[in-house]
Amino acid sequence: MTILITGGAGFIGSNFIKIWRHTFKNRKIINLDKLNYASNIKNIPIKIKNYEFIKGNIGNVNLVKNILYKYEPDLIINFAAETHVDKSILNPKIFAQNNIMDFLNFIETCKYYWEKTHKDKKEKFRFIQISTDEIYGSLKQNEKPFTEKSIYKTNNPYSASKASANHIAQSFFQTYGFPIIITISTNNYGPHQHTEKFIPKIIKSALNNNIIPIYGDGQQIRDWLFVKDHCNALIKIIKYGIPGESYNIGANNEITNLELALFLCEILDKLYPRKNYESYKTNIKFTNDRPGHDTRYSIDSTKIQIATQWKPIEKIESGMQKTVNWYLKNMRNI
Ligand SMILES: NC(=O)c1ccc[n+]([C@@H]2O[C@H](COP(=O)([O-])OP(=O)(O)OC[C@H]3O[C@@H](n4cnc5c(N)ncnc54)[C@H](O)[C@@H]3O)[C@@H](O)[C@H]2O)c1
Repeated sequence: MTILITGGAGFIGSNFIKIWRHTFKNRKIINLDKLNYASNIKNIPIKIKNYEFIKGNIGNVNLVKNILYKYEPDLIINFAAETHVDKSILNPKIFAQNNIMDFLNFIETCKYYWEKTHKDKKEKFRFIQISTDEIYGSLKQNEKPFTEKSIYKTNNPYSASKASANHIAQSFFQTYGFPIIITISTNNYGPHQHTEKFIPKIIKSALNNNIIPIYGDGQQIRDWLFVKDHCNALIKIIKYGIPGESYNIGANNEITNLELALFLCEILDKLYPRKNYESYKTNIKFTNDRPGHDTRYSIDSTKIQIATQWKPIEKIESGMQKTVNWYLKNMRNI
């Protein structure tokens, strides 16, 4: 079995490659990534067996065609996307081009390839589209978590581009029978994430003795999923997921941004105390809120838990400790 992973030099994709390689030692992995600013090729050990990296854009039809006919993958996982909400607010067209138009080129090329494959392979083939809970929009404090039946109600250009990709993927299933599965996960954390994102940014700012910026009043709630738990959920979905279906992947770890920042400072105070023993918490400063900032994300993961027996394992306390430790060891390389 050959797997084509796109965006595998980014945060979740690179963690997935490591876990996939560990789980399925002999299966060929092709990693197609355009290597944008968020990628770090050092996240993937160079000498892993049966692994090939190809630099390129998923929207490049000729390149993708060549890859598909040369390596004949049975499974495609699309992690590739522009992912930073703030960047999407500054430049929405880049997100529409990359996450919608390039994605459309990609899925269409994959669909043509799938149509021409042998009957046996055709039945087993899967295309997994990695999506985000941001497509559902924002919840009030006392509202029930989103389920897969909730309507999409996006509030920023990033989530709008990701919701569009889901609609396209779903339409390819309905129209052509192309066996897509959509996974919708909540905020991930763990090793390899770019320092523009919330958790690494807090750690980096603290270590550099800079201001730790928190948008608005810091009361926005997010549900944090350890990246390894997300990758293990994807492996379950590959095995048990049903084409045409969507699966929410959440962690039940809801916490406000301010609580999380304070918690990360406490971990840093223990693991890497300042010379004067003053807490890193003193660096926290509130900044102007992000336009269209969603108040609360929360998803109901009952469907994946029943369908695959998956459940998140990492507790937020231990997961955050592991994450801070990783950044303390690797901050110079990222
Ligand atoms: N990080 C999260 O908390 C989170 C949560 C839910 C869903 N997701 C989704 O998971 C996926 C991966 O997220 P991430 O946090 O690892 O992102 P990331 O920004 O760290 O990595 C994305 C990778 O995709 C590559 N890429 C982007 N566009 C490409 C294109 N057109 N062709 C080839 N490569 C391209 C980039 O070079 C980068 O290496 C994304 O689709 C994102 O929307 C992320």
